[in-house]
Amino acid sequence: MSSELTGKIAIVTGGATGIGRATVEHFVREGARVVIADVNRDEGKALADSLDASAVFRETDVSDIGEVRALVDFAVQTFGGLDVLVNNAGISGPIYASFLDDDLEAFDKIFAINLRAVMVGTQAAAKYMAENGGGAIINTSSIGGIMAGRGVITYRASKAAVIHFTKSAAIDLGVHGIRVNCLAPGSIPTTLLESSTTELEGEERDAMISSVRSTQSKKRPLNREGTVDDAAEAAVYLASDRARYVTGAVLRVDGGTAAGSTMTTPGQS
Ligand SMILES: NC(=O)c1ccc[n+]([C@@H]2O[C@H](COP(=O)([O-])OP(=O)(O)OC[C@H]3O[C@@H](n4cnc5c(N)ncnc54)[C@H](O)[C@@H]3O)[C@@H](O)[C@H]2O)c1
Repeated sequence: MSSELTGKIAIVTGGATGIGRATVEHFVREGARVVIADVNRDEGKALADSLDASAVFRETDVSDIGEVRALVDFAVQTFGGLDVLVNNAGISGPIYASFLDDDLEAFDKIFAINLRAVMVGTQAAAKYMAENGGGAIINTSSIGGIMAGRGVITYRASKAAVIHFTKSAAIDLGVHGIRVNCLAPGSIPTTLLESSTTELEGEERDAMISSVRSTQSKKRPLNREGTVDDAAEAAVYLASDRARYVTGAVLRVDGGTAAGSTMTTPGQS
């Protein structure tokens, strides 16, 4: 058993499923104790139960400012401290073929979860960490926050804002020994894509999901879809002392998608 995170106490928001769930599992495997924060009570509690004393579930809606602040207090009270916060909870919102069709009804919800919760969580955790020897904060952005594109424009804007916020917070909080970094995953099959297509049904929905996945697959230099473990292992690194001189960074876990265009030049096949 390795021990990259032995003795560390962490919060993972959105920890019940997908990348967050894998992050919880990897953190525990590496010796951390983890508070799993999510709106998904059934999955979150079952995961905590499966990890015995190394994890507890705290039902939290990160779009609620008070609940995010209370989450930090809960971690400190439950495990006696806080070393790592992973602001992973996120939603994508409906996919529109054109921005002209977007009624922007989902804007406030997407920004409350994807950006404001990240800012509130960072501030609440940093207030504790600044007084207690520092810590590491990992904010989950997306390659959608790096690369412009069609379809989920509000999501892209929120994730781009997460990157800019992360860099600014890293500059502000470095003096307190607090590192703030971004993970930018891409093309990892989870329920996130399904949640962006809930307005569609049946074959239309299946066709949209497969179209998004096949479009993404043409853009990946590493030529495979990512896994939740790919992202979780990057989170372990950023949380660990191996990343002690890394702050304000954006770590892409996207098979190379955002490295640049994969369009072939004339003469290449
Ligand atoms: N899967 C990808 O390819 C991909 C790519 C880029 C970025 N991301 C980001 O990774 C993060 C995790 O997404 P995922 O792909 O694992 O999707 P997911 O849907 O499996 O996980 C998201 C988790 O967040 C929780 N959540 C949603 N709203 C919440 C709220 N208000 N309060 C608390 N928890 C809430 C959900 O219940 C779920 O457990 C998100 O921030 C997402 O934007 C994912």
